[in-house]
Amino acid sequence: MSELVRMEDVSFAYANSRSPVLQGINIHVNYAEFVGIVGPSGTGKSTLLRLMSGLLKPTKGRVLFRGEPLNGPNPRISMMFQSPTLLPWLTVIENVTLPLKARRDLTEEEKKELGMRFLDLTGLSGYERAYPRELSGGMQQRVALARALVSLPDLLLLDEPFSNLDPLTALALIREIEHMWYDSSLPPASVVLVSHNVDEIVQLSDRILVLKGRPATVVAEVKVELERPRVRRSPEFLNIVDEVIVLMGN
Ligand SMILES: Nc1ncnc2c1ncn2[C@@H]1O[C@H](COP(=O)(O)OP(=O)(O)O)[C@@H](O)[C@H]1O
Ligand SMILES: [Mg+2]
Repeated sequence: MSELVRMEDVSFAYANSRSPVLQGINIHVNYAEFVGIVGPSGTGKSTLLRLMSGLLKPTKGRVLFRGEPLNGPNPRISMMFQSPTLLPWLTVIENVTLPLKARRDLTEEEKKELGMRFLDLTGLSGYERAYPRELSGGMQQRVALARALVSLPDLLLLDEPFSNLDPLTALALIREIEHMWYDSSLPPASVVLVSHNVDEIVQLSDRILVLKGRPATVVAEVKVELERPRVRRSPEFLNIVDEVIVLMGN
C-alpha cells in the first residue's frame, strides 16, 4: 500500500515552552485510508495535525507528503477545525468557494459549480445565499466541511469537528461522513480524524493511533475491521471502544 503522509521521528516544542509536546512520532497514512488519532485533551493532537498540514514545522524530524518534505501549507491538504471559522460577511456559497478564489485554472462558473456540488453533498442545497449567522451550529460545520472538500484535496485533516455540536447533530454528521467515505463520494484520498471521543473514532477509522504521555508519543495502534456502516451498540464495536479506552488509560 502506498503512503500519502509520513512523519519521521518528529518532535515538537512550542517556542515559549521548555518541554516538548510531542516526541519521537513515527506514523504514516496510506492512500485511501481513514486514520483516527485519539488521546486525552491537551496531549498534542491539534499540534500533531498542524504539523501534518504544514502549519507548524517540526523541532526535530520531518514530515513527508507524497514522498516530498512538506514545507508549509499545501493546497492538496485541507483542514477542518472544532469551530466552523466561517466569514460572517460572506454568504454560504462564497464561504465554500473561498479556497478556490485564487485559482486561475477554473472559471467563476466552474468554481460555483464545485461549491454547489459540495453544498449538495453536505446536505445544504438551498442555503447557498444564506449568511452563517442564519444557520445552526451543525449546519455551519457542514459549510466548513464543504469548504474543506471544494479544492478536492488528497488529504483531509479533521480536528475534533464534532465536539462543539450537540450529540444528535454530531451523530448525524458522523454517519454522513461514514456514508460518503464508503460510497466513495468523499473526494480526499485519505482522512485523518483527531478526537478525544473514542466512539466517533471507532465509528470512522480503519486504523486508530493512541497518543499519550508528556511529551506525547503513539503508544498503540488498533486496526478496525468492522463492516460499514458500523453499528454502535454491537458487541464487536463496544469491544474495540473498550480496548482503546484501556490503551488510553494505561
Ligand atoms: N500556541 C501554543 N503555545 C504554547 N503551548 C501550546 C500552544 N498550543 C498548545 N500548546 C500546549 O501544547 C499542549 C498540547 O496542545 P494541543 O495540541 O492543543 O492538545 P490537544 O489537541 O490534544 O488537546 C498543551 O499542553 C497546550 O497547552
Ligand atoms: Mg485539540
